[in-house]
Amino acid sequence: MRICVVGTGYVGLVAGTCFAESGNDVICVDIDEAKIEALRKGKVPIYEPGLEELIKRNVEEGRLAFSTDLATAVRHALVCFIAVGTPQGESGASDLRAVRKVARDIGTVMDGYRVVVMKSTVPVGTHKEIREILAGVTEHPFDVVSNPEFMKEGAAIEDFLKPDRVVIGCADKRAAEIVKDLYSPFCRSGAPILVMDNASAEMTKYAANALLATKISFINEIANLCERVGADVSQVRQGVGSDGRLGMSFLYAGLGYGGSCFPKDVRSIIHTAHEAGLEFPLLNAVDDVNNRQKRRLFEKVREFYNGSLKGRTFGVWGLSFKPRTDDMRDAPSIGLIEDLLAEGCQVKAHDPEAMEVAHQVFGDRISYHRQNYEAIEGADALLVVTEWNEFRRPDFDRVKRLLKEPVVFDGRNLWEPESMRKLGFAYFPIGRPSVQLS
Ligand SMILES: NC(=O)c1ccc[n+]([C@@H]2O[C@H](COP(=O)([O-])OP(=O)(O)OC[C@H]3O[C@@H](n4cnc5c(N)ncnc54)[C@H](O)[C@@H]3O)[C@@H](O)[C@H]2O)c1
Repeated sequence: MRICVVGTGYVGLVAGTCFAESGNDVICVDIDEAKIEALRKGKVPIYEPGLEELIKRNVEEGRLAFSTDLATAVRHALVCFIAVGTPQGESGASDLRAVRKVARDIGTVMDGYRVVVMKSTVPVGTHKEIREILAGVTEHPFDVVSNPEFMKEGAAIEDFLKPDRVVIGCADKRAAEIVKDLYSPFCRSGAPILVMDNASAEMTKYAANALLATKISFINEIANLCERVGADVSQVRQGVGSDGRLGMSFLYAGLGYGGSCFPKDVRSIIHTAHEAGLEFPLLNAVDDVNNRQKRRLFEKVREFYNGSLKGRTFGVWGLSFKPRTDDMRDAPSIGLIEDLLAEGCQVKAHDPEAMEVAHQVFGDRISYHRQNYEAIEGADALLVVTEWNEFRRPDFDRVKRLLKEPVVFDGRNLWEPESMRKLGFAYFPIGRPSVQLS
């Protein structure tokens, strides 16, 4: 099938590449000329495991191309995916300007029937607006399909090629069949392809993200209470998550959720509810708890040093909002580092993939280190912010030698408090017993 994907970011690039991988003829379009130029030269603008190899193979085999020319791409395709950003706008609502523009541009240049698939996360009801926009600029027939994306950054290829489910929102059977056909190679192992109405498909995406965010804020609240009453959230998680009705996933206490989706999607559904005359106190609390949780590590640091942070140096391991991505959008590292800098601290940071992107956020206000051990040399303490696998089994003797004092603040609960005590560290995890310097 001939496809064009408009918006070549985390979602569009992965979706386009995976559709090419299953034999389709795909053009990925973006307005960012530098990005398209880089992709044409084989340079992948984001870090996503496995993506570079997949792009290379599909470009070489002639199934995947990159372009800034939307008109040619739309005329080439039967199915046009819209995968541009929908960032948080004023008042928490999603900013749909890019989506609307792309819909208008597609409508203006299409020269026959098209299936226009909304892959961006858009508020419930957007499909109607897209239909109106298209109808306003074209005489040609079209269908609008709402096909939200559930991939996780860091495992996006795997998620796309082996989804838990595919959601297709569509009023027209023929269009639904076309999109179903595109996904069927990825669902051979039995993952359901759920065809529903557009509004329900749009809502499904928000409901899923809101529920995942709720689990995270819930366990973080439990973690904070554990600290007060002397319980260990890791043990509580095991006890709770072993219940088949509840499950273990998304019950890790830490520094809260970040990234380009959860924070904005939670606020967007709150806004949708408000517009519909409903309040959503549960999700307001989820958002508040998360904002507070992002400051937990800083509070622990400040408490340990009795508020006297000026002139101290901290080694930070992990900058991206989660492991296996270089995405810094709404990352908990940002608030933490800004707070430390505001107190007059120095920050030495290491991240396996996100340092280039982090440089766009912090510039030269912090130092960046290619090796995690370099980042803690002469530092007052180590702060763990992102749970990259490479941090899980460090050489603790070396860590101890490099730090001024053996003090670790662990925002991701990578290590056992008891082992840290035996190793001679002061250790401050989240929701678990802390270990003081002896
Ligand atoms: N990142 C994720 O993990 C994820 C997962 C599921 C859903 N989503 C949703 O998918 C959508 C895209 O997210 P993303 O993270 O890929 O965004 P992104 O910011 O990484 O990429 C968006 C791309 O769209 C391009 N663009 C903007 N306006 C354009 C236009 N008029 N024409 C062509 N290209 C244009 C930008 O240059 C950019 O490359 C969002 O709605 C997001 O909420 C994201």
